[in-house]
Amino acid sequence: MKILVLHGPNLNLLGTREPGVYGKVTLAEVNAALAGLAGELGIELDILQSNSESGLIERIHSAAGSCHGILINPAAYTHTSIAIRDAISAVALPTVEVHLSNIHSREEFRTRSFIAPVAVGQISGFGMESYLLGLRAIFNHIKKGLS
Ligand code: DQA
Repeated sequence: MKILVLHGPNLNLLGTREPGVYGKVTLAEVNAALAGLAGELGIELDILQSNSESGLIERIHSAAGSCHGILINPAAYTHTSIAIRDAISAVALPTVEVHLSNIHSREEFRTRSFIAPVAVGQISGFGMESYLLGLRAIFNHIKKGLS
């Protein structure tokens, strides 16, 4: 099983970016934790961080036929991008949306996700653990479908 992991804009700055909101964990540490869990689960990951909407969309398109599912933190594009939502719908790959912070307890504009309606589910507010819970969730979802 192969999962595409996407990190949206500004997540390359994790560790120094608003540590009071996002914590001190770096993106490299998030990716290392995901790789460790992927090893335990016996799955393969393809990981990309992009600050550009088109970069994320192109990667979603190329996941069709090569990946079984998507784990995505769309970052600010969560709240703005109909194009990323349409890309996920277009490839029809099961997708789990994750956020480090609890987007429902912050500014009102963050409570709206354009991605959630086309995702299997959303995990928000657990810091790096959101990604690990999300990877387990997409893994179990796909496994159920495959068996
Ligand atoms: C975020 C929440 C978004 O609202 C914000 O724009 C981000 C990070 C999170 O992981 O908590 O960049 O997706």
